[in-house]
Amino acid sequence: MLRNSLKFSLVDKEKLKDSREKILKEIESGEIGYFHLSKIAKDTILQTREFVQKHKFKNLVVVGMGGSSLGVKAVVGLLEENYPNSPKIYFLDNLDSYSCKKVLDNIVFKDTLFIISSKTGTTIETISIFKYIVAKFSVLNLGENFIFITDKDSSLEKFGKECGVEIFHIPQNVGGRFSVFSAVGLVPFEMMGFDTLALIKGEEACKSDFLKDDFILQKAYHYATHRNAKINVVFSYLDKFESFNQWYVQLWAESLGKKKIYERVGLTPVGLIGSRDQHSFLQLIMDGIKDKTVTFLSVKASKNSEKIPNLKFAYMGSCDFVNGMGIDEVLNYQAQATMQAVVNEGVSVDSLEFDTLDEWHVGYLLSYYELLTSAVGAILGINTYDQPGVEIGKRILKNIILKG
Ligand code: PA5
Repeated sequence: MLRNSLKFSLVDKEKLKDSREKILKEIESGEIGYFHLSKIAKDTILQTREFVQKHKFKNLVVVGMGGSSLGVKAVVGLLEENYPNSPKIYFLDNLDSYSCKKVLDNIVFKDTLFIISSKTGTTIETISIFKYIVAKFSVLNLGENFIFITDKDSSLEKFGKECGVEIFHIPQNVGGRFSVFSAVGLVPFEMMGFDTLALIKGEEACKSDFLKDDFILQKAYHYATHRNAKINVVFSYLDKFESFNQWYVQLWAESLGKKKIYERVGLTPVGLIGSRDQHSFLQLIMDGIKDKTVTFLSVKASKNSEKIPNLKFAYMGSCDFVNGMGIDEVLNYQAQATMQAVVNEGVSVDSLEFDTLDEWHVGYLLSYYELLTSAVGAILGINTYDQPGVEIGKRILKNIILKG
């Protein structure tokens, strides 16, 4: 179960009609492919299972930037605790020589599968790290320890085919940051032993709720049209949401920061972790400029949560009121208390509470955020799926380096 409570006034259904129609048009035209990924998920899963039957690896290294790794990292972060015997998974998602060296120095090449993930197949960071790996291990036969996840007919696919590398495809109409339910995510998730079919079922459940219900559109409408609050804070209570927060920041920022002829629009995403950031960013939410909306994410405390021991230290009696309680139980009370404090300040708040974090719920959560992003984009009247601003920097980089 997942509960989404919207703690602000809802608008009349009529106000949501245009944006609902715009999204339905995007879906039905097939122009935007992420909505249809569950239809091809089984093929990708089967291809991966066949590969896994023939190849066993102790380590997986995902090489990819932005949408080609962040969604994978998010799901792995949320689920890996349930899979202690899975292969170890590493991410090389930054052109940082220390990070690359640290990962590669600590793995045995023959036990490792490198997943080179790039939709375009020409992202400079991804391909440079790929070259670094090939040179570092003096790889002669790429087909043994590498797979490529890319678009059909990309340069990476053409190169891979010549080298005997197994290729997994991303559909052309699925953008990077909306690709977590394509081969980009499903291939590593299968290799980790996750229940990918349950993940897809969760994703489908969210889409079907979206089609019959207005809760995502109501939230999108409130946050997109808020007069003063152009910042959305996701306050996630558990460390395992750290990478999910990063994915949300990318999805929201790259999709929603756009120029509309002479106007600039966008909602700024901020990802926080509770209770840590209660001792930091919360002060700004409580007493700073009222330019934020806040979403609280929490998971029902497990009965297996470690406990706070019933120890009474001299002079520290004021800390004894939580003695004997589960650590996660206290964390959830903190989420509740903080939410109440923020609501009392008149800030727009909503909360997403999960009974548990299994594949179904994780699939639901990521789909919820994809649809929410599409809905906010539709209400803002922008193209949610391109990223022209990011492309400019890439062109300048080439000019700077080639000119010397
Ligand atoms: O969401 C996006 O489109 C981007 O973040 C891309 O995923 C990122 O730039 C990586 O691109 P590619 O997968 O082509 O290497």
